[in-house]
Amino acid sequence: MAKYSSSIPNGLITLDAESETPLYRQLYDSLRKAILTGQLAPGTRLQSSREIAKELNVSRNTVVNAFEQLLAEGYLEGQVGSGTYVSRALPEDLLNVKTLARSCTRAGGKGPGLSERGKVFAAFATSVPRAPERVRAFQSGVPALDSFPFETWSKLASRHWRRPVNSLLGYGEPQGHGPLRRAIASYLGVARAVRCKPEQVIVVDGAQMAFDLIARVLLDPGDAAWMEEPGYPGARAALITSGARLVHVPVDAEGLDVAAGAGLDAQARLIYVTPSHQFPLGMTMSLPRRLALLEWASRAGAWVMEDDFDSEYRYEGRPIASLQGLDNDGRVVYIGTFSKFLFPSLRLGYIVAPPALVDAFISARAMVGRHSPSVEQAILTDFIEEGHFGRHIRRMRTLYAERQLLLIEALKKECGGLLEVEPSAAGIQLVAWLPEGLDDREVAREAAARGVEARPMSIFYAGKQPRGGLELGYAAFNKQEIRKGAAQLSAAIRSCVEMKRRETRRRAS
Ligand SMILES: Cc1ncc(COP(=O)(O)O)c(C=O)c1O
Repeated sequence: MAKYSSSIPNGLITLDAESETPLYRQLYDSLRKAILTGQLAPGTRLQSSREIAKELNVSRNTVVNAFEQLLAEGYLEGQVGSGTYVSRALPEDLLNVKTLARSCTRAGGKGPGLSERGKVFAAFATSVPRAPERVRAFQSGVPALDSFPFETWSKLASRHWRRPVNSLLGYGEPQGHGPLRRAIASYLGVARAVRCKPEQVIVVDGAQMAFDLIARVLLDPGDAAWMEEPGYPGARAALITSGARLVHVPVDAEGLDVAAGAGLDAQARLIYVTPSHQFPLGMTMSLPRRLALLEWASRAGAWVMEDDFDSEYRYEGRPIASLQGLDNDGRVVYIGTFSKFLFPSLRLGYIVAPPALVDAFISARAMVGRHSPSVEQAILTDFIEEGHFGRHIRRMRTLYAERQLLLIEALKKECGGLLEVEPSAAGIQLVAWLPEGLDDREVAREAAARGVEARPMSIFYAGKQPRGGLELGYAAFNKQEIRKGAAQLSAAIRSCVEMKRRETRRRAS
């Protein structure tokens, strides 16, 4: 049950009107700190923005701005104007950020502590995805590790390791191995209608590094960035930790709602999109929407970050061409990754930058990690050039279509009436919606306790989520694993339904 605080505890908030830090930011910092240190407990209802404004002798706008930032970042829930609470869903570890921040501060005695950016990273410490002990149903985002041609890969690897060439053992090119950049540019031209030369390709350690580099190179702290709502938490975190001010723009059946974005913040410097296959809902951005987005970005002078993470897996018709291929104004920074086509631990991906940005990206890439491992890049080049990459993707497309069907059948059989699931024309995961009123985080916890992974849809929303759901990966699992996983998931959901029923009865009596 929510706790009601008659007022924010005395002394919790001190604002300095003389400071260069805006008042709303000071208020945001104080409230966030109070939440992270447990002084404001999860579920606490905050006073109205009007009351707080009166008490602190600041304008109501100052309070509303601070609240809205905290709502967007998940520290608060509810709505300004109709009840704002400290988020009940804050992971417990997040509440220990103070411990983490303190231990960092105190490391080595009386250190000067974390930088402002360091504090933001510390606040994200518990959202860092941890590696599970093993890949298990229905972990999402993982391709079929059981079907990867390791024999071929190891032959190519031993070719390079048996007599390694000198140039692959010393420091490599920060921009990436030349032959790999040529192979990527030619693959992208044919498969994704991306218009680029090898000189525009920068090899990075997966899409996550691309998000970070792009945010650092193109955004100043406080700049507005549009983020898809719901959207990919890895991109959202990279934007927030770079200091961007996130504007959560809804997606509809045609993808990112450009008009809504323009209404929310017309000053955006960068827009993050997954046009080929919206993450996590799965729709494809329509052509009129793509053109509207490019036109808006051109007029507003904004960059578009296109995350093309799994577009090759399309089960109806041909893969949808990239947004980058439609861009005549050098606005789109394109991101690709090998995580979904080969295996995620390879940590290889790429940015295709408009020519004007290439030098800045090469320099940034060199600063954060010099370059990606050269021998892996050389093995991957051979894998692409000798046709194994194309063959593997074609095989996987057939396999994943089958596995998706198996998952849908298994869910219908085991969870009929408990999960609403539609086939998806693309990707390697499905969204399954829960009955109204069930908390997807609770279901995910219950499922994990029974040995199944099911990411709660709520983690993809910064604001209010329409309904609880689960994201279920299917690509990496065979028939037995899918059937067993569906039965375990069914038991987890039934147990949550039962718990809810008991709670409702208890409340009624
Ligand atoms: C939307 C989206 N973008 C990118 C990635 C891939 O990230 P990486 O290349 O860092 O493995 C994922 C992985 O789950 C994703 O879901």
